[in-house]
Amino acid sequence: MERSRDLGTSVSAARLRRKATRLILSYLPESLRSVLVRPSSILGGAKVLELGCGPGWFALEMARCGAQVDAVDIAFPVLRIGQRYEAFCADTMGLPGRVRYICADLNRGLPLRTPGVYDAVVIRGTLHHLLDPESVLGDVHRSLKPGGMLLVDDGLETQTRTAILAALLLLLLPTQMSLRWKLRRLRHPQLMIAYMDRHGDSPFEGASGSNAIDMIQQRFEVQHFETFAAFTGILITELRLRYLERCREPILAAFNLLDRLFISLGWLRGSAYVLVARKVE
Ligand SMILES: C[S@@+](CC[C@H](N)C(=O)[O-])C[C@H]1O[C@@H](n2cnc3c(N)ncnc32)[C@H](O)[C@@H]1O
Repeated sequence: MERSRDLGTSVSAARLRRKATRLILSYLPESLRSVLVRPSSILGGAKVLELGCGPGWFALEMARCGAQVDAVDIAFPVLRIGQRYEAFCADTMGLPGRVRYICADLNRGLPLRTPGVYDAVVIRGTLHHLLDPESVLGDVHRSLKPGGMLLVDDGLETQTRTAILAALLLLLLPTQMSLRWKLRRLRHPQLMIAYMDRHGDSPFEGASGSNAIDMIQQRFEVQHFETFAAFTGILITELRLRYLERCREPILAAFNLLDRLFISLGWLRGSAYVLVARKVE
């Protein structure tokens, strides 16, 4: 717990978190970043529910835009980190909105069940962890005001051509993997697909194994859908530059641009999607 106090409340840690936030945002598509643009953010004064908030960096950014956020996660220690950091930010730089952290298991339904209270619900990287996403989406639909916004981002299965390109890049770039490992992944793309899809595994990974996008379309009117990060995600974690570590960010930014270009030209599909939908009665 001492460690989480440090993470939450020292000035240097706060600077580091701001830098990390800016970095993460630079890899997210415009449709996700745009909701956080101040002062014109559509979240100003909005009542927002975030499910699976983790340490709450996105919830905090929404509060910086003036949103009143209820942020839910099952992991108490990460919520504590978020809570301490939010208190620190509110004390030292002021916060137009606020975050209320709620520790709950979404597999038991939403912790707050009053219907029609939220202007927006945000679910980032969490839907695929849930045992019954359809029932959670039903609760989300009820909890939104009419016309309320649902913002979801989550993973997609890796395509074969993406896996081949990623394997080729890993072969050419410095990583910790052996040459044999890399050549095997290049010759057998299904091994690379499995490696990329397992990437970032947690004990809850892929619990639902179901198609959440169809479920969302059945209940909501989807207004925007795009995919992002075809191969950048795997490069971020695997690239090892040793003495050239300071070149890491520009190199990854260049690959990210290439990634976006290939997706926009329709040559690749991203390994993640972002979706904006509205509640229609
Ligand atoms: C991949 S992380 C995403 C975290 C955060 N949204 C972000 O983008 O940094 C998935 C989060 O879902 C949470 N989670 C998984 N299963 C859950 C459940 N049954 N109830 C509540 N939270 C859950 C995990 O604790 C984790 O923080």
